[in-house]
Amino acid sequence: MKHFVYFSAKGATSGKALSGDLMQAGRLDIAIHSFIQAIFLSHNFRRDVTFHFILYGMPDPPKHIEICVNDETPISKKNVVKLIQKLLYKGKKGEKTEVEPGCFVEKKSFLKVVEELMEKEVECFILDKKGESLREVKIPTECAFILGDHEGLPKQEMKRLKKYLTPVSIGPHMYFASQTVAVVNNELDFRGI
Ligand SMILES: C[S@@+](CC[C@H](N)C(=O)[O-])C[C@H]1O[C@@H](n2cnc3c(N)ncnc32)[C@H](O)[C@@H]1O
Repeated sequence: MKHFVYFSAKGATSGKALSGDLMQAGRLDIAIHSFIQAIFLSHNFRRDVTFHFILYGMPDPPKHIEICVNDETPISKKNVVKLIQKLLYKGKKGEKTEVEPGCFVEKKSFLKVVEELMEKEVECFILDKKGESLREVKIPTECAFILGDHEGLPKQEMKRLKKYLTPVSIGPHMYFASQTVAVVNNELDFRGI
């Protein structure tokens, strides 16, 4: 399984916020573009990818939404916003809830999500312009890529994570979050991971 862990310091954590302009909901438009690049193919889905949204915006942070598409997941490009909205509305206090098949929501911090992946022996990489070239780095089949939104990754948590995790770069520019996801998926495709 491949994972993308998307962090947003201001991504809204209420279903109501998704009724209006996504740009006003802590730039959830960027989150959704990244999710689409992670999971969607033309007329198909990547069923071996799990996307994690880590949202720290108001009113109920931190929220962890986890989506891995299976045959029962009610998903299409047209209803992604409604699906995320439903997950935010239906999350139950104190427990991880499967709101739709393959779609979970819970209250969990960024560090906890990453630590749990590491406990499951998933090798986590930080997507960072200054990191090692993605083309050179050894990547196992159980891997995770951590990225930020337009404001980047949280400084304090990254200081801690950089002690254990390898930062990897996809190229010399600062790319859109969604572009980094597309490039990583493409590299993994070429490697047959
Ligand atoms: C639009 S960028 C964030 C820009 C933000 N101002 C910053 O300084 O981090 C969104 C995310 O894409 C990833 N990213 C952007 N360019 C990258 C690159 N060249 N290599 C690897 N990851 C990159 C990083 O994880 C970043 O947090």
